[in-house]
Amino acid sequence: MRAWMKDSGAPGGLTLAEVPHPVPGSDELVVRVDAFAPNPGDLAALPGLPDGAIPGWDGSGVVVEPAADGNGPRVGERVVFLSLASAGWAEHRAVPHAMTARASTAISAEHLATLPVPATSALRGVRRLGSVLGRRVLIVGATGAVGRVAVQIAARSGAHVVAVARDADQHRDLRRLGASETHRTVESVRGRVHGALDTIGGEQLVAAYALLDAGGTVIALGHAAGADEVFPYGAFVADPSTANRSITSFFLGAEPDLVPDMTYLAADRDLDVGPLDVRSWTELGDWVSAGGPRSRGRVVFRVDQA
Ligand SMILES: NC(=O)c1ccc[n+]([C@@H]2O[C@H](COP(=O)([O-])OP(=O)(O)OC[C@H]3O[C@@H](n4cnc5c(N)ncnc54)[C@H](OP(=O)(O)O)[C@@H]3O)[C@@H](O)[C@H]2O)c1
Repeated sequence: MRAWMKDSGAPGGLTLAEVPHPVPGSDELVVRVDAFAPNPGDLAALPGLPDGAIPGWDGSGVVVEPAADGNGPRVGERVVFLSLASAGWAEHRAVPHAMTARASTAISAEHLATLPVPATSALRGVRRLGSVLGRRVLIVGATGAVGRVAVQIAARSGAHVVAVARDADQHRDLRRLGASETHRTVESVRGRVHGALDTIGGEQLVAAYALLDAGGTVIALGHAAGADEVFPYGAFVADPSTANRSITSFFLGAEPDLVPDMTYLAADRDLDVGPLDVRSWTELGDWVSAGGPRSRGRVVFRVDQA
């Protein structure tokens, strides 16, 4: 089969190569990969991979070999999957059944491919805030793959969603998805929030913390700004209105029992993942070499099987 392999000498550090078929462990099934949508984390991980490794965390496809231990989806079922052990940018991959969820056949493979890492992270991030019914929830980085889904999940959970996205042209769309307020930066938000899910970091995280109600939490899920967080003196001096506030880190790979949530997301025809920029996977090397640019929504690669 063919797969994109780390190759330090190649443009973008990747080569489309002929590689052996994956050999599954007893708890792994083999899927034919139909589509994948590289995550920021996939791209960030590339330089650290050894030559010969196959990158790629998540995607969508169809089961071609069941797990030997008898668990998980059956042959022929459409699935979404994720594994931070990589190996997804390939025609076939082995993946643990504990990271593989049945998916709706009424949803395109390309839409499904955008879900596993970002949408599951969004769901888990919002859930960490507890009941958000009737409460103000701040979503920072609301136009990103994580943020967009977080806005929808928080809104359908009854939150008053305060969405922050630097591109004001996207604000109308965020309101359509359920945001009650939109802002270009956290600094312009007025009034306290019950909790925040931050995908940007840097100054936005510092400002999000300052907005918390007593007992509130910022889920520091992403760090897209790549900037330091510098808290002014007094940020952690509490009074009755600011007691017991917290910031918590998040790592999807440490979250247990993901299949039910992945199944929920992969059955949801109403979830709006935004415009998709679908390309042949043979273009992946050039795209990575160009720095993974986005212009028309999430970039999804369709695997044209040989
Ligand atoms: N901890 C975990 O387990 C986990 C899981 C999933 C994702 N993440 C992380 O979460 C972050 C978001 O992931 P994603 O998939 O949503 O990425 P994405 O689709 O690429 O979205 C990135 C978002 O960040 C915004 N952004 C980038 N740089 C910014 C800056 N300097 N100031 C303000 N906004 C900025 C972008 O705005 P524009 O649309 O205007 O460009 C976009 O809304 C990434 O850091 C990713 O690695 C972590």
